[in-house]
Amino acid sequence: MKKHVAVYPGSFDPITNGHLDIINRGLEVFDNLIVAVASNSEKNALFSIEERVEMISETLGNNPRLIVDSFKGLLIDYVARQGARVILRGLRAVSDFEYEFQIAQMNHSVNEQIETLFMMTSVPYGYLSSSIVKEMAALNGPIEPFVPPAVKAALNRKFGRTTV
Ligand code: COA
Repeated sequence: MKKHVAVYPGSFDPITNGHLDIINRGLEVFDNLIVAVASNSEKNALFSIEERVEMISETLGNNPRLIVDSFKGLLIDYVARQGARVILRGLRAVSDFEYEFQIAQMNHSVNEQIETLFMMTSVPYGYLSSSIVKEMAALNGPIEPFVPPAVKAALNRKFGRTTV
């Protein structure tokens, strides 16, 4: 039987519980999921690509249906190289739609064999973003409800935090 493989791309700077929600739900739909960290030059990243991949790998543990990877260049080319046919993305609010619509259409115009599928972010994560988590961490605010333990530890180290 043919395996259904999806690529879940993002900056993941850092991965949050909102991303994990999409990954866990994605595993209910696809046989295999490739979590792919993009080196997105437009964003001023806090964590290096290696640090992001490490935090994701530590968080996801050893699951034979999951691969954690990183890529440079065009997402659509990376997806094709992996032999996947689906890009999985999460949608939080209406404000995400325009940007997502634009990149999904652009990607489809480059390679129409590859589809972008969206999952609505679960209610508790609708307001969450990596930037908000970083701001909270920088200002010594509570981050525990929003990120997995490996990310909490890494943020604490980055910002020399004294409280949780
Ligand atoms: N729950 C909570 N937050 C979520 C979320 C969810 N389910 N899904 C996304 N977010 C947040 C992220 O934390 C992130 O927050 P930030 O802006 O504060 O960092 C934001 O939503 C979007 O980030 P992310 O999902 O990581 O994607 P991105 O927009 O940073 O990256 C790529 C999008 C990687 C798909 C895109 O840049 C790309 O394809 N790059 C490769 C180059 C390329 O092919 N370019 C041409 C595209 S046409």
